[in-house]
Amino acid sequence: MNSVYLDNGATSFPKAPGVSESMSNYILNVGSNVSRGVYASAHEAQTVLFETRELICDLFNFDKTENVVFTKNITESLNVIIKGLLNPGDHVIVSSMEHNAVMRPLSSLNKKGVEFSRIQCKSDGSMDINIVKQSIRPNTKAVIMSYASNVCGTILPLIEVGEICKKNNLFFIIDSAQTAGFLDMDYKKLNADAIAFTGHKGLLGPQGMGGFLINDTLASMVSPLIEGGTGSMSNSEDQPNYMPDKFEAGTMNLPGIFGFNASLKYLKRTGLKEIRETELFLTKRFIEKVNLMENVKIAGINGMENRTAVVSLDFQGFDNSEIAFALSNDFNIMTRCGLHCAPSAHMTLNTFPQGTVRFSFGHFNTESQIDYAIDSINKCIRKGF
Ligand SMILES: Cc1ncc(COP(=O)(O)O)c(C=O)c1O
Repeated sequence: MNSVYLDNGATSFPKAPGVSESMSNYILNVGSNVSRGVYASAHEAQTVLFETRELICDLFNFDKTENVVFTKNITESLNVIIKGLLNPGDHVIVSSMEHNAVMRPLSSLNKKGVEFSRIQCKSDGSMDINIVKQSIRPNTKAVIMSYASNVCGTILPLIEVGEICKKNNLFFIIDSAQTAGFLDMDYKKLNADAIAFTGHKGLLGPQGMGGFLINDTLASMVSPLIEGGTGSMSNSEDQPNYMPDKFEAGTMNLPGIFGFNASLKYLKRTGLKEIRETELFLTKRFIEKVNLMENVKIAGINGMENRTAVVSLDFQGFDNSEIAFALSNDFNIMTRCGLHCAPSAHMTLNTFPQGTVRFSFGHFNTESQIDYAIDSINKCIRKGF
């Protein structure tokens, strides 16, 4: 079997049809900057940029194109919002499943007096919504949560969390890294104030593209992390205060915008339902066979309820990294092994410090690849790596 890519939770591969063509079209035929030129190719770039903002609005059921901000990834987006919003004395609520893209900025702010409560999730990665209510303090400003764990694929009850935020007047900031392009994420139904996204995972776009959408109230309270040229208000040395220029200083990743535009169009054409059904069909096939194996534990939920296509395995009595190495070396199967940038999630799932071998399936994987992965895992176990 040719190489089998099962690391879509890290970044999707292959990318959506049309992505590389659109990027190379920009490099070869367009080439111009946006908001800075009056010639035809600058207009073309501007049109594609605007259309990409519209596609993001469409994906998340969001109304204001100018409040869609592009960054290089979700880590940058979360840093902009977290560091631009929180001041010493503020308190925020997160779950124990968060990625370091949330936890590291919070941890550094914590040293300067920002407080946070971490909702302890259960060992299957699920969360008791009542603990969120109980964690609210007079100085709580926001809840920041990932919609699904990047370690075990458990989906958190964010609709309910959004309702709690609305009732208690808290900002609700969502990390959509593991669910955008998989779940229908409706900004309004989620009662979100900001949704941060990354382009290169489930959104099937190129690396180096991410962003966030944000409402006016929250945007007015977030100060920009990066200031500089925007091609607008060039008579002033102050950063524009209006959207999206407030958060988009410096020349953008335009090849990335062109690629992302193509991937978002592909998602729209295909439909998230179709993508979700394919990925969950493959996940089910994998999980059912793993559940028959001895000495292999699925971290988190081992059924199909409330999950994405990320499955982490803990090989009891084996060194997980040796299994991942053997899968790569002997069978040409690409997985991710170790601790997946989320130490507290691993502690919650009892996979700290040994980590897991993470299999994450994508829209372009096939049944025969799943069967090959299962067969290869069985061979690794029999060989006793
Ligand atoms: C839940 C979650 N949040 C944030 C990130 C960070 O994504 P990026 O590296 O694209 O900024 C990841 C990526 O692994 C993730 O899974």
